[in-house]
Amino acid sequence: MSHSHIAKKLRYLPLQERQKIKWERSHKVNFYEIDEEFLPEAPQFFSDEEFRQIRKHPEIKNFILDFYRWNKEVLWLVNSTSHPYISMQQTLARQADSHIGEVLVDLGCGTGGFCSQLLQVDGKAIRKIFAIDIDWKALVEVPEALRQANYCGKVALIQGSSMSRLPIWDGSVDSVVSSLGGLMYAGWWFEGGKLVAQKRLALINCLQDINRVLRPNGCLAFSAPKPEPDWGAILRDSVGWLIKTGRLTELYKAIRYGVPAKKLSAFMNRVERAGYAHYLCVEEWQALLEQTGFEIISSSFGECYAKQGVVIVARKA
Ligand SMILES: C[S@@+](CC[C@H](N)C(=O)[O-])C[C@H]1O[C@@H](n2cnc3c(N)ncnc32)[C@H](O)[C@@H]1O
Repeated sequence: MSHSHIAKKLRYLPLQERQKIKWERSHKVNFYEIDEEFLPEAPQFFSDEEFRQIRKHPEIKNFILDFYRWNKEVLWLVNSTSHPYISMQQTLARQADSHIGEVLVDLGCGTGGFCSQLLQVDGKAIRKIFAIDIDWKALVEVPEALRQANYCGKVALIQGSSMSRLPIWDGSVDSVVSSLGGLMYAGWWFEGGKLVAQKRLALINCLQDINRVLRPNGCLAFSAPKPEPDWGAILRDSVGWLIKTGRLTELYKAIRYGVPAKKLSAFMNRVERAGYAHYLCVEEWQALLEQTGFEIISSSFGECYAKQGVVIVARKA
């Protein structure tokens, strides 16, 4: 069909339908196939106009900058030495695995640590991954992490956030996962470049948008700290486990980089205290999930993350 023919057909559609088609056309993301020779060239990132506007907002600019630094200096450390961090990823992966399906969104994927765990548990059904993060430098590492986990499907690298409509078509994904990720940092919500909701209201907008992209019965699986987490308990568990299992190289790294890591993590508590990050108990999550069209399939409170974590798997009702 010629372009003029399509344009003529579009003209007769209702305005809302035309806007939806226009939006979908401007949100076609590139997928890369993961194979042995993967990424001989620099990968392309998808980023929409909304995210480009959002990151100019002074508060968000600082938040992204804090995470850039944290991801560079701390994310590799927790992913390689922190038993509570890794065991929470594994718990989430085990609980989510049978609900995952073919098309997956990882919201706040970092360097792909959680997807790697999921693929190690099983995750064989996964064919397409939308890897989304505010930090493009972390996203660069995702393809290699997936390749090392023997993934042989497709991945799209999206510099985006949980702070506005996801650049994903309605009802097109089987699951959304967020391991200590973007979901709990949905503290601001933007529409048309304008800040329209903050704190819990922003989280509600984000959950509604996740519901929009999920197919019926699609799954949302995520982890977050419980309210007022005891960070000391997490640190003691990390170090204790390295000593107990005789992992001296990791222990050296944890001691060597632990103090700067603590300093770089301070912004997370500030953001949470100000209400822009969500450390909730299961009952609070349940109320928000029900309000936004989900029902809980399974939940665990205080079982992992040195008893400081919440893991929830929910289904689009
Ligand atoms: C604690 S790390 C977790 C990374 C990964 N999910 C894992 O399990 O290793 C949090 C990640 O979320 C990203 N992030 C923070 N706020 C976000 C937001 N509002 N939207 C999307 N990503 C966000 C950060 O850049 C970071 O990569």
